[in-house]
Amino acid sequence: MLQTGIKLAGVSLRNPVMAASGTAGYGEEMSQHFDLNALGALVIKSTTRAPRTGNPWPTTAQTSAGWLNAVGLKNPGIDVVIREKLPWLATNYPNLPIVGSVAGADIAEYVDVAKQLASAVNVAFIEVNISCPNVANEGMAFGTDPQTVRELTQRVVQAVAKPVFVKLTPNVTDIVAIAQAAAAGGAAGLVMINTLMGMEIDLATQKPHLAYGTGGLSGQAIHPLAMRMIHQVHEVLDLPIVGVGGVMNGKDAVEMMLAGASAVQVGAATFGDPLACVKIAEEIPTVLAQYQLTWPKN
Ligand SMILES: Cc1cc2nc3c(=O)[nH]c(=O)nc-3n(C[C@H](O)[C@H](O)[C@H](O)COP(=O)(O)O)c2cc1C
Repeated sequence: MLQTGIKLAGVSLRNPVMAASGTAGYGEEMSQHFDLNALGALVIKSTTRAPRTGNPWPTTAQTSAGWLNAVGLKNPGIDVVIREKLPWLATNYPNLPIVGSVAGADIAEYVDVAKQLASAVNVAFIEVNISCPNVANEGMAFGTDPQTVRELTQRVVQAVAKPVFVKLTPNVTDIVAIAQAAAAGGAAGLVMINTLMGMEIDLATQKPHLAYGTGGLSGQAIHPLAMRMIHQVHEVLDLPIVGVGGVMNGKDAVEMMLAGASAVQVGAATFGDPLACVKIAEEIPTVLAQYQLTWPKN
């Protein structure tokens, strides 16, 4: 079988498939389905300084070609993650690279959380989730303003000694301008894309399916959008891109590699099949062989 081990920003991964942030928690539940060592890396749930209880239920709804979610950054807070979640992963999966996903309401919170995550031995990368509302800018997502993205990236990069990936929101007009801002701020790479804002209404109740109203769309429906954005950014920037958005099988992953991704993350596919990440990692070599392709090592 073809080997698909890669090096991403200097870190070796046994394959290019990661579990996406928010769909694998901190690994505990996923580990009941398979040995997490089958993953290239695991991205933890975006973590904030204080614990967050999240939005009222229902927080997820299935759509015709994907999922809507408004989980609301539910997480136990950085103290619990440092004290319990990361040590549990380090003890049980000492060789599994962890991606520490950071969220915050202002730049100081991002920097503080990123520093603490980066200090954990098993955290190989920091992933900055810039889809969060910026309290200093009327709640507009950090990731919609190039100036803010550049400053936030720069501040996190200066604060940590591990490669910093910036995870872009697709809810913008010009994704290239945002990607360039992250590059200018010193990002080691990009993760593309987070969910797209969406909504569904239940005919029976005439109310949105999600208690919150709107939510982020993930799954199959967003794959072509992720493909287009990765391609656009890859054309103009020489930075590694981790592709995410509707990767349901090995073929989707290889298509994303052809658009410019060096690795992929899998989120919603896990809802339909808890083994999705493993199966996708196993399918990739077969798809590559079928089309006489190779996955870039760097
Ligand atoms: C229930 C749920 C929770 C998520 N939570 C986060 C999160 O905390 N941080 C983040 O950066 N992305 C989060 N995401 C977005 C995913 O990581 C991913 O970018 C998105 O779902 C697109 O990939 P997919 O189509 O494979 O699901 C979440 C997605 C879902 C479905």
